[in-house]
Amino acid sequence: MSAETIIRGYDPSRDYSDVHYNLNEAGLFDPDRDTATLLQTYASSVLVAETDGTVVGNVYASEGIMPIIFHLAVRESHRGHGIGSLLLRAAEDQLKRQGHPDAELFVDVTGKNYEALIRFYADRGYRNGDTYKSMWRILP
Ligand SMILES: CC(C)(COP(=O)(O)OP(=O)(O)OC[C@H]1O[C@@H](n2cnc3c(N)ncnc32)[C@H](O)[C@@H]1OP(=O)(O)O)[C@@H](O)C(=O)NCCC(=O)NCCS
Repeated sequence: MSAETIIRGYDPSRDYSDVHYNLNEAGLFDPDRDTATLLQTYASSVLVAETDGTVVGNVYASEGIMPIIFHLAVRESHRGHGIGSLLLRAAEDQLKRQGHPDAELFVDVTGKNYEALIRFYADRGYRNGDTYKSMWRILP
C-alpha cells in the first residue's frame, strides 16, 4: 500500500476534515489544539499521508526550538502497511532539515495499546526518557 501513498505537507484548503477524522478515530483529537485555525497557522508543521485522494494519516513535527513529534495517526483501515513508519520518518527528516539532532515524543501510558506503541517506537530507534515527567496547564 505504501507504494500508492504519498507523504506531503498539510494543505489547509482541503485536508482539515480528513485530519480531523484521523485524529478523532485514533482518540487523539483535542478540540483546543486541533482547530482548523491552528492547523492553518502551523500548516508547515503538519505532514499527511495521501492514498487514493484521501488523507489516511498525519503527524505533527513541531517547528521551533523543541523537536517534538506528536499526533501520529493512521486511519484504522490503512494500518499495518507501513504508512505510520513513513510519516514518522518524514517528520524526523523535517526536524533534521531544521537543524535538530534528535527528536522527542510522548506516549500515553494510560492508552490501551500502549505497549504495542512503545514497541513500535523502540523498533524505530526511540529510547525511554526517564528524567522528566510532563506537566501542563490551561493558559489564563
Ligand atoms: C501507531 C500507528 C500510527 C502505526 O501506524 P501504521 O501505519 O499501522 O504503522 P506501520 O504499518 O508502519 O507499522 C505497524 C506497526 O505498528 C504497531 N503498532 C503500534 N501501535 C499500534 C496500535 N495501537 N495498534 C496496532 N498496532 C500498533 C504494529 O504492531 C506494527 O508493528 P511491526 O512493524 O513490528 O509489525 C497506528 O497504529 C495508529 O494510528 N495508532 C493510533 C494512534 C496512536 O496511538 N498514535 C501514536 C501517538 S504517540
